[in-house]
Amino acid sequence: MALQGVMDTLKRTTLDEIGVSFSLADLLRDLKIEGENVEILLFSPSEKYYEFLQQKAEEALKSVGAKEVKVEFTSEPPKQQQQAPTPPPQENPFENKRRIPNVKKVIAVASGKGGVGKSTVAVNLAAALKKMGYNVGYLDADMYGPSGPTMLGAKDKQVTAKEGNILIAPESHGIKLMSIGLLLPSEDTPVIWRGPVLFKALSQFLFDIDWGDEGLDFLIIDLPPGTGDVQITLGQTAEIDGAVIVTTPQDVALIDVKKGIQMFNEVEIPILGIVENMSYFVCPDNGKKYEIFGKSRTEEIAKQYGTDVLSKIPIEPKVAEFADLGIPIVLAKPDSESAKAFIEAAQNLIKKLSQ
Ligand SMILES: Nc1ncnc2c1ncn2[C@@H]1O[C@H](COP(=O)(O)OP(=O)(O)OP(=O)(O)O)[C@@H](O)[C@H]1O
Ligand SMILES: [Mg+2]
Repeated sequence: MALQGVMDTLKRTTLDEIGVSFSLADLLRDLKIEGENVEILLFSPSEKYYEFLQQKAEEALKSVGAKEVKVEFTSEPPKQQQQAPTPPPQENPFENKRRIPNVKKVIAVASGKGGVGKSTVAVNLAAALKKMGYNVGYLDADMYGPSGPTMLGAKDKQVTAKEGNILIAPESHGIKLMSIGLLLPSEDTPVIWRGPVLFKALSQFLFDIDWGDEGLDFLIIDLPPGTGDVQITLGQTAEIDGAVIVTTPQDVALIDVKKGIQMFNEVEIPILGIVENMSYFVCPDNGKKYEIFGKSRTEEIAKQYGTDVLSKIPIEPKVAEFADLGIPIVLAKPDSESAKAFIEAAQNLIKKLSQ
């Protein structure tokens, strides 16, 4: 079998059935062709789709003349990253980074500027991934202004603890969650953290949570705004598979995007892409799009830093209304313009993780 023919077939084999907009070729990690036999290695963060992907690949390749098709799977980062020469330990300040137990992919959602919609994006990314069938957790690392419990309709959920100070994450809309907001006596209690206490609380949130017997395919971490203690601590102690930066199209927000990207580069966390929130407004009367913050320069900035825009989310009053009601828009109004844009962001995120 010819390599080009196999590649073309994999490219043609789209995976619409599981709600993603990419093809087998996007997941391809390795390919061996021996005569009529084809062996492929596919990226998949979860075992959930192994059977489906296997069947898809077999069908497609056999239809173009393959005799035997062997499919293997990996959830590991790409080869070039694995093979990169590791610097001697004394030169690596992050050698103590630990993996968060029982979680396959850890994604941090960050922004340089406050109020751009980080929590909204984090919660809806979690909901979109859940809708695709993954096991998802949401960790609200905003220790000063936790909004996760409200946005996920989980304000009344109880956190229980088990042996060894392990906190058991409750669930809402099928998403496991943890937030300091669930542990405080009342929503109005101001949280004043001193350095070491913050460090300890955050460390417990990262490493001492029971995310359920099945574990998680994705853990979405909602960060506080800016580049402060929480971000640095997280970056230095936990292995994060990638960061998503949220911004709005205004120049003031974009200046902070650059700071955010630089900070993640410093703590060696790959940037998966930028989500531009409140990108435009769709007039309900005539369906026309209005770029109310002016022409966006987000793409230009993304390019400058070697990353991509994962999605552009419109302003829709429903997003905020349902957030206040505790239902992510992706679940409340899956056909809305904004829900579709959040789902696109989740799909592009998976695509990015597979590259
Ligand atoms: N696309 C959108 N359309 C309409 N409203 C939105 C949209 N995105 C976010 N909002 C609303 O804007 C407000 C701020 O969003 P959010 O709390 O997600 O921002 P944040 O970046 O997490 O803020 P903070 O920096 O305080 O953590 C919320 O009331 C939210 O419901
Ligand atoms: Mg927030």
